[in-house]
Amino acid sequence: MLGKPWQELAEKDHEVYACIESEFKRQEEGIELIASENFASEAVISSMANIMTNKYAEGRPSKRYYGGCRHVDTMENLAIERVCNLFSCNHANVQPHSGAQANAAAFLALIKPGDKILGLDLSNGGHLTHGSVVNFSGIHYKPHFYHLDTETELLNYDQIENLAESVKPQLIIAGASAYPRHIDFKRFREIADKVGAYLLVDMSHIAGLVATSLHQSPIPYAHVVTSTTHKTLRGPRGGIILWNDEKLTASINKGVFPGTQGGPLEHIIASKAVAFREASFESFKTYQKLVVQNSQVLAKELISLGFKIITGGSDNHLVLMDLSSTETSGKALEEALEKVFITVNKNTVPKEKRSPFVTSGIRLGTPAVSTRGMGESEMKKIANYIHLTYKQQGNDEALAKIGEEVKTLAKQFPLYSEWTKSK
Ligand SMILES: Cc1ncc(COP(=O)(O)O)c(C=O)c1O
Repeated sequence: MLGKPWQELAEKDHEVYACIESEFKRQEEGIELIASENFASEAVISSMANIMTNKYAEGRPSKRYYGGCRHVDTMENLAIERVCNLFSCNHANVQPHSGAQANAAAFLALIKPGDKILGLDLSNGGHLTHGSVVNFSGIHYKPHFYHLDTETELLNYDQIENLAESVKPQLIIAGASAYPRHIDFKRFREIADKVGAYLLVDMSHIAGLVATSLHQSPIPYAHVVTSTTHKTLRGPRGGIILWNDEKLTASINKGVFPGTQGGPLEHIIASKAVAFREASFESFKTYQKLVVQNSQVLAKELISLGFKIITGGSDNHLVLMDLSSTETSGKALEEALEKVFITVNKNTVPKEKRSPFVTSGIRLGTPAVSTRGMGESEMKKIANYIHLTYKQQGNDEALAKIGEEVKTLAKQFPLYSEWTKSK
């Protein structure tokens, strides 16, 4: 195993080196529970640091606007072939720089400015790019939103169908950033067909579960599927677009370039290809099973400690704590947990009464701790640390003690151990 890819900076640019090293230490020392984060493998990380960053390759493989693209063509084709095999789809564009870019390109391909879109409300777990008024999706298109059922906190497909029939959107978006249960993409497609809308599934959060058949695949049902590559899928930071219908190919590719991007990041595409191969291994399925098991144990433990959990549990990689009936806000608990080296993010909950900067929820996710190899007994300990931190907010002495225990736990699950040895 080679050393850290950034080691050379120790001599060549010490200021940048110091920032990266501090972040390395933070990731190693603490417990990472942000649901959208993960620890990419050494191979995925190392493969980003390559000379393909030097190459302009606007266009698609074999249809470039620059000379000298034969090797990036081979590599981009490999990434496309691997991702199509992984998700069993006919076509892919692996160039989007991020999930938001993938969505922007898909919107451009499918609908016109001013068209109506229907997505999950941000405060109920949707994403900014699904119609928020501060995002391109709500600025250039007319956004409408469905909400979770106020009783069950689940997607209510009959309600969504009724809303779709009255709004008559050109595009329906399924997928979420903070929804802890399975999503029925088949039902979404039936609704879309009934009102003559396109169905876009943004599977960013659950792509790793979909790749390993632990969640229904959206591919047979959606007209277009978008995703990030860095969440449960455990690749480099980036986006992808997948689809089956050849008739959409030209407009989707044009939506990416020249529609919303310039030159693709071929060095990142190389790393995406590495990640798609890793995700096809049997060990990746074992890992994803652990992600879900851990999430379920975490939810159960938190409930037994007296916390309210949205929907009462989890089917996927995330758990949403509901603090709305307590004096503690999401922001306050996030900050207290930071002091004990547990990283989470505050999140709105359905029927949110606090402001979006304060919130009444905490979103927890198990992709990163599962990559470290933590299991049931560690989830129980983590739930306990969260509970203790909640009770000891404001007591810095008690928090310092909890923090030491958290660091001891993290140390038992080394991260990037070869790189740590080369320090
Ligand atoms: C559902 C969903 N879509 C899109 C995105 C945007 O991804 P990115 O941050 O890579 O632009 C996110 C990120 O959190 C997400 O949760």
